[in-house]
Amino acid sequence: MTSKHYVLPTDLTGWKPRDNTGEVHFTWDYDSGREKMLNLYDKGKRRQWDAKIRIDWDQTIDRNNPLETDDYYLPIWGSAMWEELDESRRSELRLHLGAWQFSQFLHGEQGALICAAKIVQNVPDIDSKFYAATQVMDEARHVEVYTTYLNKLGLAYPINPSLKALLDDIVSDSRWDMTYLGMQVLIEGLALAAFGLIRSLTGSTLARTITSYVMQDEARHVSFGRNALKDYYPELSSSERNEREEFCAEACFLMRDRFLGHEVWETLGMNTQECVKWVEGSEMQLTFRRLLFTRIVPVLKDVGLFGSTMQNALDKIGVLGFSSVDIDNVIAEDERIAQEIDASRVSQVDEIIGYANS
Ligand SMILES: [Fe+2]
Ligand SMILES: [Fe+2]
Repeated sequence: MTSKHYVLPTDLTGWKPRDNTGEVHFTWDYDSGREKMLNLYDKGKRRQWDAKIRIDWDQTIDRNNPLETDDYYLPIWGSAMWEELDESRRSELRLHLGAWQFSQFLHGEQGALICAAKIVQNVPDIDSKFYAATQVMDEARHVEVYTTYLNKLGLAYPINPSLKALLDDIVSDSRWDMTYLGMQVLIEGLALAAFGLIRSLTGSTLARTITSYVMQDEARHVSFGRNALKDYYPELSSSERNEREEFCAEACFLMRDRFLGHEVWETLGMNTQECVKWVEGSEMQLTFRRLLFTRIVPVLKDVGLFGSTMQNALDKIGVLGFSSVDIDNVIAEDERIAQEIDASRVSQVDEIIGYANS
């Protein structure tokens, strides 16, 4: 509760004006805040960074293989369609797959920017408004980073229809918890896992650096969503929780189908049906698609959305086993890797300054 003495109690003067996207929550209780939320807010303020300074944008990108990954990890590697391609077509495919993947990150980041701003507006508590404000800045930076990267690459793809459908559901729902659930838990959880795969497989220092720095911010965002929902969901009725589980189940199927690459096969004039069929059936790609749920499943369990609807859907996708992943450990590791990269950047800068002064 507030420690200020108001002439009228805050619950009598509460104000929720409406704009055409739903309720706008004002609060006059500026002083109460949950410690864990305020700690995240403080961390968010301390960890702001400038993408222009922290990232060395002079590094070149190999347009024949932007992510410098082994061909073995490409979606159609090992198929007859791959064997038919000569080296120049293979280079073109690597370029397009990289551009497609990073374009989806870019569009997803814009979605996160809009959702974070929406949370500032719709969430009732001041501590959550504070934290979401730091997230707005983080997401703007992520949009800047991926835009700069794609400008350097010189190629971009429009938003994938499954990602667009999911974003549409999230932004058109005015309930603040649905914004958290859809964006902070599902879309960001999936993006974090995809970033994690890139971070471990890429040979490009630029791609690894970008990904690690963005992941450091995203880990805070997922923690925020998780803390807020963990406090809120026990207050809901079982039918209200079930509605959320149904939404998540549908979203998980949409997200799984986002990674089949239709747009790339079509753009390159390949046999889209055959390529999609291959990607759907390839053991390696099935493993990749399952790994994308490593960060989502433990959080859904943690916030209390783990009834039969949710468990059945996750079981169908083959990812129910990830419920035992220790998400705190995984997040701590993200933080450690980003700090390690940053420490080596700082020591390089010190070395250059020392050399210039000698
Ligand atoms: Fe982001
Ligand atoms: Fe985020």
